[in-house]
Amino acid sequence: MRTALDGDREPMHRVGQLGFAARSSAYDEEADRAGVPLDRRLVATDGGEIVGRLSVWELGQWFGGRRVPMGGVGGVAVDPAYRGRGVASALIRRALGQMRERGEVLSTLFPMNHTLYRRHGWEVAGSYPEHKLGLRALTALPRPARPTSTRRVEERDLPALRDLHEEVSRDEPGNLWHGPDFAARRLLGGKPVDQDAYVAERDGGLVGLVIVERGEAADDRGFFTLTIRQLVAVDLDAELTLLRLLGAFHPVAEVAELIAPHSFALSMLVGERDLRPAGWGWCWMSRLVDAPGAIAARGYDDSVDVEVHLALTDDTAPWNSGAHVLRVKDGQATLEPGGRGEVTLGVGQLASLYTGWANPRRLSRVGLVAGATDADLRALDRAFAGRTPWMRDFF
Ligand SMILES: CC(C)(COP(=O)(O)OP(=O)(O)OC[C@H]1O[C@@H](n2cnc3c(N)ncnc32)[C@H](O)[C@@H]1OP(=O)(O)O)[C@@H](O)C(=O)NCCC(=O)NCCS
Repeated sequence: MRTALDGDREPMHRVGQLGFAARSSAYDEEADRAGVPLDRRLVATDGGEIVGRLSVWELGQWFGGRRVPMGGVGGVAVDPAYRGRGVASALIRRALGQMRERGEVLSTLFPMNHTLYRRHGWEVAGSYPEHKLGLRALTALPRPARPTSTRRVEERDLPALRDLHEEVSRDEPGNLWHGPDFAARRLLGGKPVDQDAYVAERDGGLVGLVIVERGEAADDRGFFTLTIRQLVAVDLDAELTLLRLLGAFHPVAEVAELIAPHSFALSMLVGERDLRPAGWGWCWMSRLVDAPGAIAARGYDDSVDVEVHLALTDDTAPWNSGAHVLRVKDGQATLEPGGRGEVTLGVGQLASLYTGWANPRRLSRVGLVAGATDADLRALDRAFAGRTPWMRDFF
């Protein structure tokens, strides 16, 4: 196993295609360079041939209003001829060690294969709320109260767009903080020319962004469909401006797919069945890479004051294992080795609680948390409770 080098780009693409593609597509140098930087990619080799690969984006996630440094794992693939021999597991172990050294205290990924990641300490920890939206509904939206203009995105907008993305994401539990590479390469889609990307402007400042991709229309509904890659708006006027821009695609396009939680303004603006859950049903999985570091990094409700004695298990990252005391007070928390080790749970279960996804009482009922008293369960619930964690970006 080693860090990827420039000459590995094409062989890595080949292994990726063996892992994920119905039909191999040609290697695209520009697209590859828009991906994870080489020094954050690992390859497994046999006699000089690349047989496995894994990448880790430099990212963060917002929890309790604070940015938690996160390694975003992706592109894990092993040549079919080499599967079942622990290649992926070895890559994962190495990546975890590197994330720990870099201070990426949390790791999150979109799983194709839950078993592999669960075995290595990741657990389902948040949603990717895909919806189908009937574009006709947007044609009846009210005009924004303040005049807000739109124009096509330009390269020079990137710093302001990063700030905009951060402003709307920081209060949304689980939302991504774009690391420098991810923002530059992904926020504008890597290849902005292929996309419709528009900003909303007011008083000389950016107040919204929408990035749209066109796809084949199914069922004779319109000439094409829209996939909304980003929809961020600082307020209702900005959101209405962008939604009206999308509505203007109707009836050439009739249906759009977008990522938005039910709690968003959009669901309060459109009618029944205009906005419906859809898609692949993706969720994301997380694990704490450095459990004390992750616990210290997120924010907590100021009013919570609890102490729980945990017995944490982590076979893949043994530095997290053992008795720890969790203390939350004054909006901060610590996880210190020691204590009575009363509540037994795996690092994945702790990650699921940490993001606010899992309910400790349910985990206890199904045996995934053991030894907890009623008071422990209430304490864990209060420590991590919040709105459902979700992500608007995919990686
Ligand atoms: C998933 C994949 C990366 C696994 O690679 P691998 O080197 O065979 O994995 P390992 O040998 O380290 O497997 C470790 C454990 O993961 C689990 N696992 C691995 N592949 C699995 C699969 N396809 N289905 C269910 N469980 C699987 C098993 O529990 C396995 O342990 P075991 O062999 O003791 O039963 C490989 O099958 C692959 O490239 N698949 C296509 C792409 C993909 O799905 N990538 C991951 C999703 S992002």
